[in-house]
Amino acid sequence: MRSQSDTDLGTPSRANADAPLVTVTIDGAPITVPAATSVMRAAALLGHKIPKLCATDSLAAFGSCRLCLVEIDGMRGYPASCTTPVRDAMTIRTESAALARLRRGVMELYISDHPLDCLTCPANGNCELQEMAGVVGLREVRYGYQGDNHLDASKDQSNPFFTFDPSRCIVCSRCVRACEEVQGTFALTIDGRGFGSVVAASENEPFGASECVSCGACVQSCPTAALTENSVIAMGQAERSVVTTCGYCGVGCSFKAEMKGESVVRMVPNQNGAANHGHACVKGRFAWGYATHPDRIRRPMIRARIEDPWREVSWEEAIAHAASEMRRIQSRYGRAAIGGITSSRCTNEETYLVQKMVRAAFGNNNVDTCARVCHSPTGYGLKTAFGTSATTQDFDSVRYADVIMIIGANPTEGHPVFGSALKRRIREGAKLIVIDPRQTEIVKLPHVAASYHLKIKPGTNVALINAMAQVVIAEGLADLDFVANRCDLKEFDIWRAFISEPRNSPEAVEPITGVPAAELRAAARLYASVANAAIYYGLGVTEHSQGTTMVLGMANLAMLTGNIGRPGVGVNPLRGQNNVQGSCDMGSFPRELPGYRDIDDDVARGSFERDWGVKIDSEIGFRIPNMMDAALDGSFKGLYVQGEDPVQSEPDSAHVIKALREMECVVLQDIFLNETSKYAHVILPGSSFLEKDGTFTNSERRVSRVRKVMDPLAGYQDWQITCLLSAALGYPMEYSHPSEIMDEIARLTPTFAGVSYEKLERLGGVQWPCNDAAPEGTPTMHVGHFVRGLGKFTVTAYIPTQERTSARFPLILTTGRILTQYNVGSQTRRTANAALHAEDLLEIHPHDADQRGIRDGAWVNVRSRKGATRLRARLSERMQPGVVYTTFHHPESQTNLLTTEFSDWATNCPEYKVTAVEVLPVARLEDYEREPNPSSAVE
Ligand code: SF4
Ligand code: SF4
Ligand code: SF4
Ligand code: FES
Repeated sequence: MRSQSDTDLGTPSRANADAPLVTVTIDGAPITVPAATSVMRAAALLGHKIPKLCATDSLAAFGSCRLCLVEIDGMRGYPASCTTPVRDAMTIRTESAALARLRRGVMELYISDHPLDCLTCPANGNCELQEMAGVVGLREVRYGYQGDNHLDASKDQSNPFFTFDPSRCIVCSRCVRACEEVQGTFALTIDGRGFGSVVAASENEPFGASECVSCGACVQSCPTAALTENSVIAMGQAERSVVTTCGYCGVGCSFKAEMKGESVVRMVPNQNGAANHGHACVKGRFAWGYATHPDRIRRPMIRARIEDPWREVSWEEAIAHAASEMRRIQSRYGRAAIGGITSSRCTNEETYLVQKMVRAAFGNNNVDTCARVCHSPTGYGLKTAFGTSATTQDFDSVRYADVIMIIGANPTEGHPVFGSALKRRIREGAKLIVIDPRQTEIVKLPHVAASYHLKIKPGTNVALINAMAQVVIAEGLADLDFVANRCDLKEFDIWRAFISEPRNSPEAVEPITGVPAAELRAAARLYASVANAAIYYGLGVTEHSQGTTMVLGMANLAMLTGNIGRPGVGVNPLRGQNNVQGSCDMGSFPRELPGYRDIDDDVARGSFERDWGVKIDSEIGFRIPNMMDAALDGSFKGLYVQGEDPVQSEPDSAHVIKALREMECVVLQDIFLNETSKYAHVILPGSSFLEKDGTFTNSERRVSRVRKVMDPLAGYQDWQITCLLSAALGYPMEYSHPSEIMDEIARLTPTFAGVSYEKLERLGGVQWPCNDAAPEGTPTMHVGHFVRGLGKFTVTAYIPTQERTSARFPLILTTGRILTQYNVGSQTRRTANAALHAEDLLEIHPHDADQRGIRDGAWVNVRSRKGATRLRARLSERMQPGVVYTTFHHPESQTNLLTTEFSDWATNCPEYKVTAVEVLPVARLEDYEREPNPSSAVE
């Protein structure tokens, strides 16, 4: 059931810019709407609500319930208003005695096969069937309730998040259509005919065992209590709702948090959310219970040594202790001996304050962010090529793409709501090219099939993209007018000479990439031969030693084919965490102030110095790997970590652990104890996204409000904690609300100059740059000209990674995420999602498994040059021989014990996607259970 406060116009908008307008008269009132608008929608726009059950404006009209009948002059009978389009000069009546009689008759039939327990039903007060019975004035059912009915049908409670109660189902098919049209999973059908019709999941399986991915779109679309959230069954209907933004991934879905007192009853995707248009995934919709999990830290804690037990203390004592330790370290080891790590889970305002505290109170630029380990090559590469460190498009741009090329990303699992938008566009006819070592889900799904899946060897992206560009040049498919008008021709000529070298031909790179030359050529032709081709990419591009080179290579290809600067095209990073874009924008890097201005730019630094009233160091500070190295050298001794778990998320965990052990004060601000807290001296309990005000910036540069729906469990929002610490360090930062922090950001950051909470309230969100030139934000960038002026082609020579397979380590391990879990899993593992993915598995091709005597489900040792861990094997044809894959959602897997120190040449982004390993069966399970996990030996 959708949120009560959302207006439902009955059928989707058919408006497009070219549609002619027609004027009709409804109940005596004229209205002008685009042709092809349904009669129901036109009436709703006039404020006339025609009774309906099977129609809703998020789904195409279906016309099955016959409740929405109307009278139209010149038309025989009573047409259904949801499926009848308006025609010019139509005269329509939505009310008459005959219509009232017909509608009552329809409702009578529905109610005669429906439980009469409205007062105890979980949907009571928010049920369209109940509402419609009232609207049509149904008072009694003439047929009695003794005949055949479905009232004894048993419930399906197999899904952890919602219940299907067939006795309440009116077979309107809204759930089936939502699963198809909105989510694109096609898990549901209406089985049987007539009276015997029932909703069936997959091959008549329980929901929990079916193809259902628990997105909840069917539940949201259901007009009765047939599909209901378990939380609503347990708690009843909500009393109020607050619009906020999902705290999980970079799609940035807008939600209405429906509340009863201080408790969340359910999260309902916001129909007006510009990033999600009323859709959500299993994480955002259902996995919010972690926010009140008993494991939440509620009191600050300190200890002198990491071997000591924790001691709960007051906020005052914890803050005073942390500040005095930081100052002691600086006076003993120097100003640069401490630093901070900002969080991509926290708000823009919170991230901004951490870097401000580091620069103004610590007095150095030792600030870095976990974005270092994911999309830092995106920032560097796109800024170099185009002039801006972010995506070129908004999500809705995909609606205009003719070819979608997905490189190193798994959007249906990693960015599920955008994955649904991609699937929809492909069902509408766009062609799909997937470049990935593994057969990701989107390669083949119901009604979606990639035209080309280039099953590349990990670590060879650059060779492949270069060869694609060579094909485009050699076959005359380049848009040379675009290049001549928009790009730096001198750079282009140098690049063209390079790309035309024989080493970049499809045939030359075939042995490197493993991709047949003919397939590569065909994919390049497809990309270059349509009006609009768009690239979407993920960490399979960036987490490589040539991550930045690949971003530059994609930018080269997009410029070469003129695929920049309008809807339907672009180079689009799919960013991981909810606010990873924002944490980069807010100055979390040691060399950049907010808005990506170099720390050694005297003008930019001067403006911050004047505003903040301090001198800012012009020296570039430490990145996270530098901090760890300096700790091992004995020169870096104190670290403030806001909402981050470097032990689990940084590569080469053993190295990180050793470095943390050398530090004298590690202050961890988080909502749960994590792997890093084992090496911390101060714990400051943080707040979840439900407990704070602020903003997140999603993958499409959209700044959206996060609103506090409940009080912080430990007393403070994260921005307040940073302010307390900064004040204790002698640099007070005084704000009464995050809106004041945003005002400061806008004052100091040209790309945010036009952003304010008032504007966010009014527009619902804005995409930066938002300033005088673009007061309502910028959905598409580089229109007409590049931000840097002329687009820059860069020579992108392929250089193989230093990480090589060998006789000892013959397989390549690559990593990724799955739908139901999120990153290191500290949130999702504390929800019912844990049951959907209880452990990380090692996917291995049956051929490789066979050679090693590995059975499906067997425990295996995975060893790299850096370390070892154990996982259970899953034999999978989705893998190519020679490549194995795992997720990293469970701390016990310790996948990052395996990963190496190699990193991107430009940004130090770790090379997570390529690790040479050997996989061998654990001889006996008992051995596994008795032996300690090798990871514990490292600690
Ligand atoms: S479960 Fe709900 S949405 Fe699906 S057919 Fe039944 S009443 Fe309609
Ligand atoms: S929860 Fe989503 S995937 Fe599952 S049946 Fe409903 S719409 Fe389909
Ligand atoms: S797609 Fe991402 S932002 Fe949207 S609900 Fe899922 S996790 Fe949240
Ligand atoms: S709402 Fe039109 S037929 Fe059901």
